[in-house]
Amino acid sequence: MVVIRGATTVACDEKDEIRKAVKELLEQIANVNLLIKDEIVSIVFSSTSDIHSYYPAKAAREAGFEGCSLFSAQEPDIQGGLALCIRVMIFVEKDMTPRHVYLRGAKVLRKDIATVYSVAIDGPAGSGKSTIAKRLAADYHIHYLDTGAMYRACALKILEAGVAVDDEAAIVDLMRTVKLEVSYDETGNQHTLLDGRDVSEEIRRPPISMASSRVSKHPSVRMHMVEKQREIASKMSCVLDGRDIGTFVLPDADFKFYLTASPEVRAKRRYDELVAKGNQVDFEELKAEIIRRDEQDSTRAVAPLKRAEDAVLIDTTDLSIDEVLGRIKSYMQERI
Ligand code: DC
Repeated sequence: MVVIRGATTVACDEKDEIRKAVKELLEQIANVNLLIKDEIVSIVFSSTSDIHSYYPAKAAREAGFEGCSLFSAQEPDIQGGLALCIRVMIFVEKDMTPRHVYLRGAKVLRKDIATVYSVAIDGPAGSGKSTIAKRLAADYHIHYLDTGAMYRACALKILEAGVAVDDEAAIVDLMRTVKLEVSYDETGNQHTLLDGRDVSEEIRRPPISMASSRVSKHPSVRMHMVEKQREIASKMSCVLDGRDIGTFVLPDADFKFYLTASPEVRAKRRYDELVAKGNQVDFEELKAEIIRRDEQDSTRAVAPLKRAEDAVLIDTTDLSIDEVLGRIKSYMQERI
């Protein structure tokens, strides 16, 4: 007896989508393993707890897998696990080497067969990029690279060195010696290290926000950061968020999204975030700063904040995080 494993994901919890995905998965497993249906003894499915509309076993029966015993079960609700996923175990009466098949979003379950892919999420401050990028990376078990944090760390370096944010020559010199690294803890959180020091919290302060926007317009800073970001993205699958990922850092990213939202909503999100961390902030001032920062980020000469032509635009003003995530995932799962 041989066991073949497989998995796939569905774009949404709907009967027809489940039937389509199950049929596609079983047919591919049969094709790559050169199986005839009579050789299959039984098929056991498990599906994530967000699938309610149809039994995968019933879909298998309808797809012509009738002569074997079929069974479906629901998986426990694992935090951070892949969403809308159907897994399968096929028992075969044959002497063969099994070839496992992972399709659509489930490719990420098999790092050995999945290629490195990248997801670019760009947009202005407070559009929801980092929250969405973090959740997406966790759900797909890939890394999240916060490129804004890298510019923020550069700004901190420049401010601490007592260099003016417009002093191009002094900044070029500083960039030659700066040691900027990102690392990840066991929960997948990014830590930004400036000359070996963890500055992840410090760089969130409002003065650094404005300074990072001004600092990021210098070509010497951008080139240094972009080189690092490309190097990271070439080695591992990741979700990158920023201003220029889809247009400049990774113009060939596999997936590109551009998030926006009204300035009021974006300012409110930042306000809530800062207040929750115990900071005292004035809402109107924060809003004015966000608008000024957008203007600065969109009008700079090198790699300005801009939607890539092939990026999917999502206005998050009236959407919850789960709704934005749902849209992104269903788009990706259809195409992975
Ligand atoms: O995403 P954030 O607010 O942490 O980014 C801080 C600043 O860094 C932002 O105002 C502009 C700059 N930035 C950039 O120029 N390019 C990126 N890819 C990310 C951020």
